[in-house]
Amino acid sequence: MELEGCLLKAEPKYMKLYRDFTVKYADAINFVRKYYEKTAPKDRFSSYPWSLPEFKIEHVLRVLRYCMMLAVRRKVDLDVIALSAILHDLAVYTSRKQHAIEGSKVAEKYLKEKKYPEEFVKKVVRAIAVHSGPLAFEAETMEEKILQDADTIDKVSAFGITVHLLHCGCMKHMPKEALSKLKERILPRLEFYRKTMHTPEGKKIVSKGCKYVRTFIERLEREL
Ligand SMILES: [Fe+2]
Ligand SMILES: [Fe+2]
Repeated sequence: MELEGCLLKAEPKYMKLYRDFTVKYADAINFVRKYYEKTAPKDRFSSYPWSLPEFKIEHVLRVLRYCMMLAVRRKVDLDVIALSAILHDLAVYTSRKQHAIEGSKVAEKYLKEKKYPEEFVKKVVRAIAVHSGPLAFEAETMEEKILQDADTIDKVSAFGITVHLLHCGCMKHMPKEALSKLKERILPRLEFYRKTMHTPEGKKIVSKGCKYVRTFIERLEREL
């Protein structure tokens, strides 16, 4: 019982927020899940693992978790952040380059149907529209910046490397080819990711992630 108490105390506050929001917005998560099932490529392994709806849902939930981590000590609208995180990548299968803008339209329709207040809908829709793509540099509010940061954190990590290697495995690449693809795809983006972070905590996490990816590449290069 005592140990249980310690474990509960050890859980960061943002994790509780994260869990609470997955319950509060279970309907939105379900909507996203169904939307992915409907729009994902027929060949589920065409761009594995990204082409799998369950992979995309996992990304959405991780972004929600990172959002809560960055938002927990700030005076921000947590509901705006939570719903924008859940709905941020809706059009990822239908409009790759413009998915932020296209997805914001799908999210707007959903939120209006669910009768969320007009001002609230506007904030969520804008955060989604500017989370990446051509409008990425227009993030103004802290809610919009937190969503961008959380999305980037998910790209630069051990997880990011794992995803890349899973894809290489699916493409039947050998380790040398996987390494050169990793260098080609991830290395040129690292500095951009680091520079475009808004929050100091996010920047710290992404800087560490960049260092980790570089160290991994250097070590693999030496071993092959
Ligand atoms: Fe996105
Ligand atoms: Fe995303």
